[in-house]
Amino acid sequence: MNFEFYNPTKMVFGAGVLSRLGEIVGQYGKKALIVTGGGSVKRSGTFAKAVESLAKAGITYAECSGVEPNPRITSVTRGAKIAREEGCDVIIALGGGSTMDASKVMAAAVLYDGDPWNLIGHGQADWHIPTKALPIITVPTLAATGSEMNGGAVISNAETKVKSFVKTSALFPKVALVDSELTLTVPKDQTAYGVCDIITHVMEGYFNGIDGTPIQDRWAEGVIINAMEYGRKAVADGSDLEARTQVQWASIVGLNGWVQAGVNTLSPMHMIEHALSAHHDITHGAGLAIVGPAWMRFAAKHRPQRFAQFAERVFGFSTEGKDDLELGLKAIDAYEEFLRNIGCPTHLSEVGIGDDQFEQYAKDAALVAHDNEGRLLARPAMTMDDIVGVLRSAL
Ligand SMILES: [Fe+2]
Repeated sequence: MNFEFYNPTKMVFGAGVLSRLGEIVGQYGKKALIVTGGGSVKRSGTFAKAVESLAKAGITYAECSGVEPNPRITSVTRGAKIAREEGCDVIIALGGGSTMDASKVMAAAVLYDGDPWNLIGHGQADWHIPTKALPIITVPTLAATGSEMNGGAVISNAETKVKSFVKTSALFPKVALVDSELTLTVPKDQTAYGVCDIITHVMEGYFNGIDGTPIQDRWAEGVIINAMEYGRKAVADGSDLEARTQVQWASIVGLNGWVQAGVNTLSPMHMIEHALSAHHDITHGAGLAIVGPAWMRFAAKHRPQRFAQFAERVFGFSTEGKDDLELGLKAIDAYEEFLRNIGCPTHLSEVGIGDDQFEQYAKDAALVAHDNEGRLLARPAMTMDDIVGVLRSAL
């Protein structure tokens, strides 16, 4: 298919590059708002190193800490208020995907007078797609979302239980400062959930995209294979810098648009997971480990050839004497086994979610991305019954 590709984010990648933060931020502003999450950046010493680098470059800062997992619009509003009051002219997102996503929308909210929730795309009448934002510098401390190098953000509204997203060119970070040393202290479970998130980003396009994209196919398979190989190592030994670096690189190329270019990607696993985590506040990657294999078993019936290709190329399964569906299902079992081995949950019961609100999750999943018959955008498009069926199979 015809496509456009745009990614203006400059990347500075490598172990130890955090020391260049001040120099880089200084190109965009004089006073930074440093946005952080739950406090791990302080415990690990990352925050102190960041501040030291800023001080050397003569940059002052204000702080917005405590951005929660599944970041809420209330945190965005709070951060934008601090940035305005303190006269910040550049935003530093120092944390994981939640921190980076919240920071992007904060950067736009500082320059927008209306309700920041209007900036999140959820189809309402007063929807305002951001057209300008303060410069954003992302410094990821977790390899997972790929948010460091794209113009997307996922934000939750705790009042309405809606988790929605915005994706637009104004939200591209100016620079992604990617220092894999910062991920050495990420605990095993979060490392594993991050690996699942990375793989799922690539799988969405691989399993939902159009046919006839051989370069993107091989690319996606390469990212998945490497994310599994080095992800396993990073979970086994968190201090393995080589594994951490490869996983972080996989997270970036998995979602900076290259793998998705021209495949017309859809994101049903993410949409279903977002519906779950909006209601239950489970970690995104853990939710994907539950939804992923269940959705794949549903999709494999409709597109067995693609899953057979996945089986053959990613897991090296022999195609001899097997039909495509049988082979595809075997690969899905192997993928689920991989997720379990690195410590991800693969059933709803493991995270305390029952079947009492399945209809609601199905409705919420389709709310953000649906066709004109109300079906969740996917290949194949999913009816409410289809989504409930997938959830039921994940119990
Ligand atoms: Fe994700």
